[in-house]
Amino acid sequence: MQIVKDAQELKKLRASLNGSVGFVPTMGALHEGHISLIKKARQENDFVIVSIFVNPTQFLEGEDLDKYPRRDEADIKICELAGVDIIFMPTIDSVYNEDELLITAPKIRGFILEGAKRPGHFDGVLQIVMKLFNITDATNAYFGKKDAQQLALITQMVKDYFLNVNIIPCEIVRDTRGLALSSRNTYLTKEEYERALSLSRSLKLASDMVAKDELNCSKIKESMQDLLTKSVDKLDYVAIVDREFRELDKVEIGNTIILVAAFVGKTRLIDNIWV
Ligand code: PAJ
Repeated sequence: MQIVKDAQELKKLRASLNGSVGFVPTMGALHEGHISLIKKARQENDFVIVSIFVNPTQFLEGEDLDKYPRRDEADIKICELAGVDIIFMPTIDSVYNEDELLITAPKIRGFILEGAKRPGHFDGVLQIVMKLFNITDATNAYFGKKDAQQLALITQMVKDYFLNVNIIPCEIVRDTRGLALSSRNTYLTKEEYERALSLSRSLKLASDMVAKDELNCSKIKESMQDLLTKSVDKLDYVAIVDREFRELDKVEIGNTIILVAAFVGKTRLIDNIWV
């Protein structure tokens, strides 16, 4: 396994690879969710590149950029065990320039839900992901459904800008009690962890309602809100959208995503299910 820190060096190395490249972009503090993406990339490609970069441009003023968990050594070991060929751990200067050309998230899909709560966040995500796609020249890139709106916007960027990479959506990995794995879960105290379980419980409640033929989105959202407001400290949103992120009045089986975002203590958590 090679560890590369310089973008130009990775471009050269990539050009020497003969075969398909599976790419998994991450911000590190790797957990089983990330590992599931890496494993899928390993199965489906000749080479696997993982990037580990806490991307400053996607954090808003006052967010957790400075305290975002950094575990380089453990991450390197995890990648080695998972059969990764190249880890890209760039320095900020190696990927960013002063006063550079910017990418803006689409006006509608980019500015609802996460985009509304974290204005500018998706611009930063798209900016770094575009760079990473161009540096790695990946054949396939693996993204978790956990960040459903991010996945939708990256899929749109690939389409709108005629990029060559295939986007491969991957299932959400949860712990035994249902909490979706996230690097930010490490911020939770024991007591907060218990309350954080309400996110996945509210989604389970929603899917149970759908299974019983309750397709009315207002009713489903109301029930979820009732459950959530008892446990979380601040509910950012509960939303039901189609796979294109258009708000729905009635659940469309096979084309719906039910999403929730909430603060438990100071930690902001997101989760969703696809029905
Ligand atoms: P990060 O939060 O580290 O997540 C990296 C990838 O892992 C994303 O595609 C995310 O959806 C996926 N992932 C996280 N938790 C998951 C889980 N429980 N199950 C399945 N997949 C999961 O997302 C980012 O980093 C950044 O925005 C990035 C795309 C790297 C750009 O900086």
